[in-house]
Parts: sequence; structure tokens; C-alpha cells
Amino acid sequence: MASKKIAYEPLKGSPLPSDDQPSDSVLLRHYDAGSGKIRWEKLLRIFCVTALVIGNIGWISLYYQNAVQAANKYPVRVPHRLITPFGDDNLTVSNGLWATMFPPGYGAIVVDHEWAAENQISPAKENATDGRAVYAVAAFHHLHCLAVLRTSLYQYKNEREQINNWFHVRHCIDALRQLILCSADPTIIGGESAWHQCRDWDALKEWIEERAYVEIMGAVA
Ligand SMILES: *[C@@H]1O[C@H](CO)[C@@H](O)[C@H](O)[C@H]1NC(C)=O
Ligand SMILES: *[C@@H]1O[C@H](CO)[C@@H](O)[C@H](O)[C@H]1NC(C)=O
Repeated sequence: MASKKIAYEPLKGSPLPSDDQPSDSVLLRHYDAGSGKIRWEKLLRIFCVTALVIGNIGWISLYYQNAVQAANKYPVRVPHRLITPFGDDNLTVSNGLWATMFPPGYGAIVVDHEWAAENQISPAKENATDGRAVYAVAAFHHLHCLAVLRTSLYQYKNEREQINNWFHVRHCIDALRQLILCSADPTIIGGESAWHQCRDWDALKEWIEERAYVEIMGAVA
């Protein structure tokens, strides 16, 4: 996975940039005011059509830009919680919850080579059977690593055989160390409440679901 951030395509249901909506109605108001004089009307009509076309190009590109930026920023506030059901010691409860976290393909995606090049993502090491490029999304590699550590610890605690080898465990600890340094979460905790600034997990998962590559890791239960 390239270290460059992924420029997401516009997310479905993203709010339109509200700043731009009034500009259209302002243009239309100007158009109405000039309607008495034929020549002016003609000129205004040309002006307005041109302005609307240009305005809309700007408007559409702003919408795309905003949607892309929104996906890369931290617009979601999530409360800091000491305990959640994901930590439930009853494995029937917690395993069920963990299993719902992964998209089909466990975070593997398949995209066009052109899309990858446009977004400055380095060439894929593997191609899908249809020739397109296969990548993984880092958030789900991190989540996979946490699941590996969790599984290993429960197997250790319950004196069961470890399914993950020691190299994998060490690799996953180091991956999560790098993640923690990368996110450098500055939230001050320890008071009565606190909120983390987060990215939109559901939006990312949805984006992956639309491009999920299931041939390597499977489709998930
Ligand atoms: C674990 O949770 C399941 C599902 O809620 C429940 O049926 C089961 O009795 C629980 N087991 C224990 C040991 O509490
Ligand atoms: C994947 O396909 C691209 C485009 O056809 C090609 O340039 C590249 O060498 C292929 N990569 C691998 C690892 O096969």
C-alpha cells in the first residue's frame, strides 16, 4: 500500500456545498431584472447562460473537491468510551461483533490501473484475474492485526494452540505501533467525557464494499 493518502471518490449522500446554492438564485434574479429591455435581455441571457455553465463547472468541481476532502479529514466526533461490548469476555458476544467489522474481502480492493495512477498510488504487486489492480486498505490491515493479537491472547489464555505464528504476532504489534504514531491522537482523556476526532469508518467501509476483492481473503460471513 502506498503511503500516499487515498483520494476517495465522492461519497454517496455527501451534502452539497451550501455556499454555492445562493449563487444560482442570485444569477436568476439578475436575469429577471433585465427582462424588460429586449437587447439587454438578450445580452443578459447570454451572460446568464455562460455564467450558469461556468458557475456549474465550478460548483460541480467544488462538490467533488469537498467530497474528496471530507473523506480525508476528521469530521466525525466519537465519544471516548472505556468499555464497549467488543471487549466482552463472553466470546459468543464479542466474536459476533468482531466478525461484523470486516467488509467482503477483508479490506482487499480491485481498481483500474488508471485510477491508481491518477491517485498517485504505486503500481500494484498483484493483478486480479480480470487484469485490474489489487490493493488493500490500511485501516483493515490494522484491524486484521488487532484481530490476530486478540485471537492469540485468547488462545494463550485458554491454553489452546496458537493459529498465528510468532512472526505474525510481532509484525502486528509493530504495525499497530506505527498506526498509533501516525494518528497521534491528541484527545485529552481522563475528564468526565472526551471526544475523538475521527474519520468516517462507515463511509470507508462502504467505499471498500463497492470495490471488494474477495478472491484472496474470501467474502466474509
Ligand atoms: C454468552 O452469550 C450468549 C449470547 O448472549 C449466551 O447465550 C450465553 O449464555 C453467554 N455465556 C455465558 C457463559 O455467559
Ligand atoms: C498488472 O497489469 C498491468 C496492466 O496490464 C501491468 O502493467 C502489470 O505489469 C501487471 N502487474 C503484475 C504484477 O502482473
